[in-house]
Amino acid sequence: MSPQNLDSLTQAVQERFADTPEPRLKEIMVALVKHLHAFARDVRLTEAEWFQGIEYLTAAGQKCTATRQEFILLSDVLGLSMLTVAMNNDKPPGCTEATVFGPFYVPDAPHYENGDDVANGASGQPCLVRGTVRGLGGEAIARATIEVWQADDEGHYDVQKEDLPHAQARGVLYSRADGSFDFKTIVSEAYPIPTDGPVGALLQATRRSPWRPAHLHFMLKAEGYETLITHVFRKECVYMQADPVFGVRESLIADWKLLPDGATLLEFDFVLNPTR
Ligand code: BEZ
Ligand code: FE
Repeated sequence: MSPQNLDSLTQAVQERFADTPEPRLKEIMVALVKHLHAFARDVRLTEAEWFQGIEYLTAAGQKCTATRQEFILLSDVLGLSMLTVAMNNDKPPGCTEATVFGPFYVPDAPHYENGDDVANGASGQPCLVRGTVRGLGGEAIARATIEVWQADDEGHYDVQKEDLPHAQARGVLYSRADGSFDFKTIVSEAYPIPTDGPVGALLQATRRSPWRPAHLHFMLKAEGYETLITHVFRKECVYMQADPVFGVRESLIADWKLLPDGATLLEFDFVLNPTR
């Protein structure tokens, strides 16, 4: 096929979507064909490589279970998750930045009071977390829902462990009337994203590190404010510069302070963007 015929093939495929009733679906499919074809031309994709790609995506699908989402992981390591988060969470300066959700969030986590220990038996060094939830104008936000989840000191989330009778190192609590909150947990440690599937094989083949810098996940919700999904990263972590999922933002890096009594303290103040 001559280059002109290759172009007319792309155009012919795009035209097949002409009758799509939903305008956004039509826009997405036409653009997808444009960029997919351009990509194949750009790298001069061979038939063997095309088939390898098909096998790769098949293996990714076969790796998925109720608690394992290999496609999200693939999107994460390709930077697509972070790109989508960044495009859709453009907040005014002063608001806490959003970052990737990650695959280990679980709805219906146990509820806790301020001061409680959300670790609930997860292994790790004890840590106290405290801070405030405020709006962009500095106003305290009372009864904000604060959802937190993290890995244990072996790098595992509770959902990755078989036969665990209850949630560990995840929970939901509410800010007080003055916007403050505090809870006990364990110190965040770096961990590798799951490498026992096609995404791990890709990282290995491309000599990329699977290690995520130590972090604590948060999701904050409050009436009249945009929901915030973010992490707080641990400053001294050696993996900060090479997060495999590109989630690190300078403003989200904080100090886990070692106190004189040997305990560890993380202080972090969240600022939410009003919806109006
Ligand atoms: C996480 O932080 O839990 C995570 C995010 C993206 C990929 C894998 C894990
Ligand atoms: Fe995580």
